[in-house]
Amino acid sequence: MTQPQRTVILLAAGEGKRMKSALPKVLHEILGRSLVGHVLAAAAPLEPAETMVVVGHGADQVTAHLAETTPGARTVLQEQQLGTGHATRVALDALPEATGTVVVLYGDTPLLQASTLRGLCEAHEDGGHAATVLTASVDDPTGLGRIIRDADGAFARIVEQKDATPAQLALTEINSGMYAFDAARLRVALKGLTTDNSQGEEYLTQALTLMLDAGHTVGTHTAPDIADTLGCNDREQLAWLRGLMQKRVNSALMRTGVTMDDPATTWVDVTATVGVDATIRPNVQVKGATRIGEGAEIGPDSTLVDTVVGAGASVVRAHTLGATVGAKATVGPFAYLRPDAELADGAKVGTFVEVKNSTVGAGSKVPHLSYVGDATIGAGANIGAGTIVANYDGVAKHRTQVGDAVFVGSDSVLIAPVSIADGSYVAAGSAVDQNVPSGALGVARGRQRNIEGWVERKRPGTKTAKAAERAADGAAEQRSE
Ligand code: UD1
Ligand code: CA
Repeated sequence: MTQPQRTVILLAAGEGKRMKSALPKVLHEILGRSLVGHVLAAAAPLEPAETMVVVGHGADQVTAHLAETTPGARTVLQEQQLGTGHATRVALDALPEATGTVVVLYGDTPLLQASTLRGLCEAHEDGGHAATVLTASVDDPTGLGRIIRDADGAFARIVEQKDATPAQLALTEINSGMYAFDAARLRVALKGLTTDNSQGEEYLTQALTLMLDAGHTVGTHTAPDIADTLGCNDREQLAWLRGLMQKRVNSALMRTGVTMDDPATTWVDVTATVGVDATIRPNVQVKGATRIGEGAEIGPDSTLVDTVVGAGASVVRAHTLGATVGAKATVGPFAYLRPDAELADGAKVGTFVEVKNSTVGAGSKVPHLSYVGDATIGAGANIGAGTIVANYDGVAKHRTQVGDAVFVGSDSVLIAPVSIADGSYVAAGSAVDQNVPSGALGVARGRQRNIEGWVERKRPGTKTAKAAERAADGAAEQRSE
């Protein structure tokens, strides 16, 4: 049997009042994706002919977000939120060509998995039902619609919390709000919805009753993991769902051979990857498009955003953003890598060092207390402690070139634009604003002079003067011996 056409309708017009947020609820983020982004990612493997998102509250923001992240999804505006049934009709009216299976989802169930949706669609299509409801048995069903079954255990109807009798309230099998429908039968049923319920809304759940009344069958499919059905209504639930997703992501990574010292404080976005035999120490965030290579060691206490880390590299107590760290390179402790910081294989960026838009060549070291901005450093160079690349003249940024095997003495300022050629030295404490040729020592600092007897004349009686006196006496004694 060939798979029928599938269409996804995602309801996201509600206000999400309890989030108490200027941001529309479905745009809140969990591990690298918006809530709605997670649902759309779970739906994508169904290969829907169309994906229609019903927007209302915050429609402009949600539409802009979808255009950026999921260009394949279309949106339709539900001006007034008259109920889940009404919202579904608004979407289906905008999809006159939809046939086969229509999957209805919400935008706030981020833990929904593709495998669960596949199971729902297969149960629906194999059963030849007019509708199939995704259900779950939960400990606390408060607020959710309850599944009412007949004496034979077959689906009878859904009763909302607000419309339920005490006996019905005691039922723990709930309506997830996700369904697979036969498109044609859904179109018919949506025309028959009424608003004679306690909320005066058009309930999508009534469509199921109308289908049964018309002699069709309605199936149920139990979600393999209750988490798949969990919606997000407030910030506490947002944090809880984030924790559940963290567990899923971390379990999957550990099963593929990643070591985590403390999974509870390890937060890896669903968009990031971590290689085999990598070790993640406590308090680490791996965000965005970050890719961590095999055997790398990350943390403790590090945040990596859109960063590529090579095999066997180590990143300790660092914050990195849009950087590339070569194989076996070392970063930190206490380092800041900014966009387009590129560390070649075996490079070292050490303690209290910031690197921006710069290349640090293979095996080169910037070990302590430096700023490297808009610079290209060759291979095997040593940038002494406290070296600052002055890349900004107050108006424009300029580049600095540092060649292979260059040795820059401590506390130097390299004033861009400037070039320190291959195989040269810069004397410690230099302020270099002229190019240094190969093989040369660039010295750019005041020459030292010692003013003899200054302490005795200018600071008589101080402990320093006394120490000078003792030193002079000692020298005199040595001479007389
Ligand atoms: C709905 C179900 C309930 C189920 C629960 C699961 C109905 C009548 N009840 O209840 O059985 O247990 O979901 O969470 O369907 N929305 C719109 N436009 C509207 C109304 C809602 O887009 O006019 C969207 C909301 O943004 C939300 C979703 O539909 O994402 C569910 O709406 P909500 O009002 O939360 O439904 P519940 O009362 O929770
Ligand atoms: Ca809800």
